[in-house]
This record gives sequence, C-alpha cells and structure tokens, in this order.
Amino acid sequence: MTQLATITLAAGKGTRMKSKLTKVLHQVAGKSMVQYVVDTAFDLEPVYNIAVVGYKSELVKEETEGEIEFVLQEEQLGTGHAVMQAKDKLKSFSGTVLVLYGDTPLLTVETLEELLAKHESRESAITVLTTKVDDPTGYARIVRDNKGNVARIVEEDDTSPKEAKINEINTGICAFDSKLLFENLSELEADNAQGEYYLTDLVGILNQKGEKVSALLTANNKETIGVNTRRHLAQAEKTLRERICNYHLDRGVTIIDPANTYIDAEVEIGQDSIIYPFTFLEGETKLGSEVVIGQQSKIVDSKIGDRVEVKSSTIIESKVGDDGLVGPYAYLRPGSELAENVKVGDFVEVKKAQIGSGSKVPHLSYIGDTTIGENANIGAGTITANYDGKNKYQTVIKDNVFIGSNSTLIAPVEIGQGAVTGAGAVVKDDVKDNDTVVGVPAKQIKGRL
Ligand code: UD1
Ligand code: CA
Repeated sequence: MTQLATITLAAGKGTRMKSKLTKVLHQVAGKSMVQYVVDTAFDLEPVYNIAVVGYKSELVKEETEGEIEFVLQEEQLGTGHAVMQAKDKLKSFSGTVLVLYGDTPLLTVETLEELLAKHESRESAITVLTTKVDDPTGYARIVRDNKGNVARIVEEDDTSPKEAKINEINTGICAFDSKLLFENLSELEADNAQGEYYLTDLVGILNQKGEKVSALLTANNKETIGVNTRRHLAQAEKTLRERICNYHLDRGVTIIDPANTYIDAEVEIGQDSIIYPFTFLEGETKLGSEVVIGQQSKIVDSKIGDRVEVKSSTIIESKVGDDGLVGPYAYLRPGSELAENVKVGDFVEVKKAQIGSGSKVPHLSYIGDTTIGENANIGAGTITANYDGKNKYQTVIKDNVFIGSNSTLIAPVEIGQGAVTGAGAVVKDDVKDNDTVVGVPAKQIKGRL
C-alpha cells in the first residue's frame, strides 16, 4: 500500500469571517473546524499528520488536539506557499500527500478514501476532489478539456465571464504524488488577482508536463463546504447538526424535532432515550439509556445515568446517577454529583455538592459546597449559607436527615444522621445524630397591625 501524509492548511486569518478569532478555530457543533479536519485526517492513518499554522499559530496549536506535527507559515502567501512549508518535514517521505483545508470541517473519511483509492489505482500525479453546486460563487471553477479531463483550475477572481458560469467547483482537497508535488511547487507564480501562490495552479503545470491529472467528482456537495463567512458557518452548522441527529436516530434515540435539537459532535446517547425540542447537549456529555431530556434543557460536559429525567434544566460539568429526576428549572453547576435515585426539583441550584442515593431536594433551594448522605429530605427553600463574604465553607448533611422548609444552614456546619431541623431554623452549630433543632416561632398578636 502507498504511504500517506496529510497536510491540513490552517494558517490563514480568515478576513471574511470578520472576527478576532482565527477562522479555523471557529466552532461547528462544539468543535473547531480545524479539529474536525485533523481528526478526519488521523482516521486515514497517515504516517505524517501535518498542520500548517500561521495567523495566531500559538493559539491554534494550543487548541488543537491529537497526534499532529505543526509547521509554521510565517507569511500567508497562498495555499501553494503553505504546502511548501511542509517540504522539510516530508523530505524522506515518499507516497501520497493529501492536502486538506482547515475550513472544510464536514468532509468524511469515506469520501477521502474514495479519492485516495482513485488517485492510487490510476497512479496519478494529482487527483482533485470536485463537486457540482447550484451556486459556485466563492469557489474556483474546474475547466475541463474536450475529452472531459481536468485542464485547469481557475480561482474565482481570475475567471472569465464564461468560466464563471461553470458549476463544477474545486473543493480544495487534492491528493498528490509526493515527489511531483514538491518538485513542481517551486514553479508556482503569484501573477494572479490575489497575488498569491495558488496550490491549484499545479493542475495546469502538471498537465503541461504531460503528468496524469485526475479528478473525483463527488455528489456529496454538502460535505465539501469551505467556510469563509459566518453565513457559511451557519450552513455548516446546520448540515452537521442534521448529520449528528441522524446518527443518534439510527442508533435508537428518539429526537422529537431534530431541526430544533442541538447535539455536539462528541455527545453519546444510550438507546431508547427521548430528546425533546430546544435541548442543547454539549461538549463531552454522555447520556445513559431510556433517558428523557425535557424541552429546553442544556447539558454540558456531564454524565447522566440510565432512566434519568431532566426537565427544562441546565446541567454543567456534573453527574446524575441512574433513575434521577432533575427539574423543571434546576441548575446543576460544576461539581454536582447526584447518586442513584436522587431528586433535584424545581428552582433548585446545586454547586460542588455530592447528594447521596435516595435523597431529595424537591423545591427552591441552594445547595453549595455540601455533602448530603442517603435518603435525606431537604425542605423547600433550604439555603446552605456557604460564603461569609471572604471564604467558602462546607455543609455536611448525614443520612436520613430531615431539613424543615426554609432552614438556613450556616457553614461550616454538620447535621448528624437522622437529625431534624424545624421550619425556618437558622442552624449555626453542628447538630448531633437524631437530635432536633427548631427556630423561634412567630408570636401571635391580636388584631391587624
Ligand atoms: C480555496 C481554493 C479554491 C477552492 C476553495 C474551496 C486556492 C488558491 N483556492 O479558496 O480553489 O475552490 O478553497 O473551499 O487554493 N491557507 C493557509 N495559508 C495561506 C492561505 C490559505 O494556510 O497562505 C489556508 C486557510 O487557513 C484555509 C485554506 O488554506 O484553511 C484555504 O484558504 P482560503 O483563503 O479559505 O481559500 P479559498 O479562497 O476558499
Ligand atoms: Ca476557504
């Protein structure tokens, strides 16, 4: 088998995005565009997985994960110039070089494998991935000769009115014979509308030299979108979201309204779960099976067990054990860990707290920096007063505790096993196991004040 090296071009600024952020770091379904591309490249098992970085290169390197070798393109003089920067790294490499653009996040491994298979079976110098689109604006056009072979690629700014009408476009993805690529890159000239060294000019150059130029025309024109503007970004987002929803639908997840459900690329969902509309599942979230996520919920980087029900709630960097109930309108902030069978009900905020199995915080409470044991019942309106203006303190509530409504637990404080607090109790000191603390009841006065 021919060896493979991949080069992802990610050095450009992305002026058309009108953004402080470099283009390839913009996210689609929760992952940066360049991360998609290098991940897809990685799946092809290349010997070298290279990314060319330039504009804000340190940031791009920091934000991009995986087994990638970065090379620097100090000045962005065009895609041909960008590929040239990888020449040194590949000096002892011989085989196929696949060039990918960091702004085409939707490309699939299958399409690339098809391109490589065609390139290698035909022993071509270059194989270009092309597609047909209704509106070719923004892309280079593919000019074919009278035998139907690709003669040239003309960048949009350099097209004649006739060429501008061609609707077969260059996706930017190209497979090259490594030797011919690096031999001919130095022949590129920047005598074009943008004054750049275009990688795409290699097609004309190789043709002139009588080398074999091939093309794979793919019908999947949704996956070859090159994101140059925010409009393109929104389009890419829509396509990818649809693809992600279909993935889960095919694996036994019910999504009531896929067009209004927002699931990030890395999210996992167990079988027979049901997702109601306007739900956002983000980051590295994992849902168990038979989970029901109610409408308008947002779950970020969290692990949700089996048979959990989440209604109209927000859960961030937290864990919910099997058979849990969350919401409506609960807010689990980072570090909340609910064991099995826990209920965190309406208008409850939980932060950095462990809640033991079978315990309930059904209504209107704030539980922060707290450990609650098993089978405890926390009455409506309970507040753990964890902050004195300077420091945060812990509250410990042991097994089988009953906290009366509207109790204020002033941390640091520990409520012993089986203890009870009366409604409205303001608890400053530790309570022993099985004891009761009650507050001052209101006095009755005759008549209205
Ligand atoms: C490019 C292609 C065009 C194709 C289109 C497909 C060229 C000259 N043009 O145009 O034929 O139809 O993609 O989407 O190749 N980059 C660098 N260094 C540079 C310039 C660009 O790394 O000096 C990177 C960018 O970060 C980007 C990619 O190369 O990820 C493509 O550059 P971009 O400016 O978006 O090219 P297009 O104008 O879209
Ligand atoms: Ca582009």
